[in-house]
Amino acid sequence: MDARTAVRERRSIRKFKPDEVSEKIIREILEDARWAPSWGNTQPWEIYVVIGEALKRFREANCQKLLEGVSPSPEIKMPETWPEVLKRRYTEVGKSVLTSLAIPREDQQERLQYSADMYSFFHAPCLILFCIDKTLVVEYAMLDVGLILQTICLLAHDRGLGTCILAASVRYPDVLRELLKIPENKSLVIGVALGYPDRDSPVNHFARQRTTLDDLVTWLPFPS
Ligand SMILES: Cc1cc2nc3c(=O)[nH]c(=O)nc-3n(C[C@H](O)[C@H](O)[C@H](O)COP(=O)(O)O)c2cc1C
Repeated sequence: MDARTAVRERRSIRKFKPDEVSEKIIREILEDARWAPSWGNTQPWEIYVVIGEALKRFREANCQKLLEGVSPSPEIKMPETWPEVLKRRYTEVGKSVLTSLAIPREDQQERLQYSADMYSFFHAPCLILFCIDKTLVVEYAMLDVGLILQTICLLAHDRGLGTCILAASVRYPDVLRELLKIPENKSLVIGVALGYPDRDSPVNHFARQRTTLDDLVTWLPFPS
């Protein structure tokens, strides 16, 4: 698959088949992904591959926290206030997901079930977690983690695998720290679910939106 096709075709996968991804394939993807660029070649990402029993336990505990209504406490803070236009895009993707699954917005029970699915990492057979050293400047390290994340997502897509980057996987860091023995001097950044996409599920097919290039780009000098 050429780079352009991979970039255009990759999308977040929110329903996976139960099929395992072999350790060999995960290893090959990570072998390639470590060629992602990073500031000064520092390669600050520290990666945990969570599969099998460890993933099952983490999935259950993470979902449990959500259902108990425990307040999340992610180590990389999520925005509290943001520009209206971004809020609108965020709301739109949520709407697209629910509509594709025929979940009415007012159906609290169904929505909670969907959230439980998300906090179960959409039942993907593998979750790859990223940590960074706590001494790093978070804002800058996020660039590096973002680069390897997208590289992994593209490489996975090239192999017929699906991914979903999941803030929902690191909202309850205590669970992870206890189960996976994450060292105290590391911050939990993000996780990405990895598995074979359920190609029949409408949640993996809804039309995605992007703003136009003209909304994003200022040309200097202006073209005309
Ligand atoms: C940092 C980050 C966190 C995300 N967290 C979640 C999440 O918790 N749940 C989810 O369903 N999607 C999550 N996503 C996926 C985004 O919703 C998705 O990338 C965006 O809507 C664009 O859609 P696409 O990936 O299908 O092109 C996350 C993406 C990023 C980059």
